[in-house]
Amino acid sequence: MAGPENKELLEIILRGIRQRGAIPFAQFMDLVLYHPQHGYYHSPRQKIGPEGDYYTSPNVHSIFGHLIAHQLHEMWEILDHPSSFTVAEMGAGKGLLCADILRYCREDLPEFYENVHYVLAELSPAFLNEQRSLLSEFLEAGKVEWIYPDSLLHGQKPFTGCLLSNELVDSFPVHLVCQEKGELREIFVTHDGNTFGEISGSPSTPLLQEYFPSYGSPLHEGQRAEVNLKALDWMEGVSRTLKRGFVMTIDYGYEAQELYHPSRHQGTLLCYFRHTPSPNPYERIGYQDITAHVNFSALIRKGETTGLPKIGYTEQYRFLAAMGLLQALENFEKSFPQNSLEFFKNKLAMKSFLVPGGMGTLFKVFIQSRGLEEVKLMGFQDPFTRSIYKPKKCAN
Ligand SMILES: C[S@@+](CC[C@H](N)C(=O)[O-])C[C@H]1O[C@@H](n2cnc3c(N)ncnc32)[C@H](O)[C@@H]1O
Repeated sequence: MAGPENKELLEIILRGIRQRGAIPFAQFMDLVLYHPQHGYYHSPRQKIGPEGDYYTSPNVHSIFGHLIAHQLHEMWEILDHPSSFTVAEMGAGKGLLCADILRYCREDLPEFYENVHYVLAELSPAFLNEQRSLLSEFLEAGKVEWIYPDSLLHGQKPFTGCLLSNELVDSFPVHLVCQEKGELREIFVTHDGNTFGEISGSPSTPLLQEYFPSYGSPLHEGQRAEVNLKALDWMEGVSRTLKRGFVMTIDYGYEAQELYHPSRHQGTLLCYFRHTPSPNPYERIGYQDITAHVNFSALIRKGETTGLPKIGYTEQYRFLAAMGLLQALENFEKSFPQNSLEFFKNKLAMKSFLVPGGMGTLFKVFIQSRGLEEVKLMGFQDPFTRSIYKPKKCAN
C-alpha cells in the first residue's frame, strides 16, 4: 500500500461493507471524501497549492479572478445595475477566487464593488477556516457571508446575481458503471479482509439506466464510465436558489459524446496525492482526492428543464482571452520590471492558462441564465477575430 492511510476511516468503510455487503462506488467515494470526521475534505491537511495535492486556477495566478470579475461586472450591467448583486460561490476552497474578485472590484470597478455581495457555501470545515481568515477584511466590511450549502440549494435565501463555482462538480461522488453483455451494470466495492475489490451488479438505482438516454451517449461493450447523479440534483438546487441572473460553472470535462467516447474506455476517474495522479481510488484512504470529469451535456440538458438555459460553453482559454487575458499579459510585460524572478514567475503563470492540452483546453466555462432573454456575454465572443490574418484583395 503506497502512502499514508486514515485507519479510522478505513474501519468505517469496512464495517459498512461487512454489514451491508458490497457498496456502490458512489457511497465509497462519498465516505472517502466527505465523511464528517475523517473524509479527505474534512482533514486540515493542505490540499491545494504547492504543499497540497493539486493546483486550481485561482492558485495559479490572480489574473484568473480579475477576468472573472470582468464577466461578473458585465452580468451586473445586463441585469440593469441592481443595488444588490449576489455572487454565491460554492466550494470556494481556500477562498482565493473570492479574494481576487473582491480586491480587483474594490480597486478597478468601485461602482460594482458598492453593489456586490459575496456569499460562500462550503462543505469542508478546514476550507471554511481558511476562507474566514483570508477574507477577514471583507467580513469586517460586510461584503462576505457564509451559508450552509444545503440551505443555499434549498432556496432559503433566493438571490439575484451569479452562482459561481470552480472545480466543484468534478468533486461530487460519482457512480461507476460498465457495459457488460449489452447491459448497463453498476460497480460495487468489496473487501476480502486484505484488499478492496470490485464486482458488477444490477444498478442500485433506476436513475442510472435513465441517465444515458437522457444525458449520456451509448457505451461500448466493456466500457467503464462515471455517472454524476449529484450534479443533476445540484442543478435543481441552483434553480431553486437563483431568482434572476447567471450560473457560471468552471470545471474540466466534455460534452457527453466526447466524455463517453470509446477512446475513454476506462472512464476518467483520477486520484491526486501530492501532485501525483493515480487511477487507484482504493489506496491512501482519506489522504487523496478523487475526481471525475464533468459531463457538461448533463448540466446543459438538466438546465433546460429547470429554467436555466445555456448562454454559452467554451474552452477556458478562449473565455479568458475574450475577457482580456492577452491584453493583461501585454500590460504586465510593459509595466513590470523585467528580468526579475517575479517577472518570469508571473508571466509563466499567466501563460499557462493558454497552453493547449493543459488547463486552457481541458477546462470549460459554462454559463446559464435565469429569467433573461437572448443574452450575449463577452466571454463567449471570438477572442481572436481581431488578430486573424485577413489578406488584402488582389489589385488585378
Ligand atoms: C477541487 S476543490 C476546488 C476549490 C476551489 N474552488 C478552487 O478552485 O481552488 C472542491 C471544493 O468543493 C467543495 N465541495 C465539495 N462538495 C461540496 C458541496 N456539496 N457543497 C459545497 N462545497 C463542496 C470542497 O470542500 C472544496 O472546497
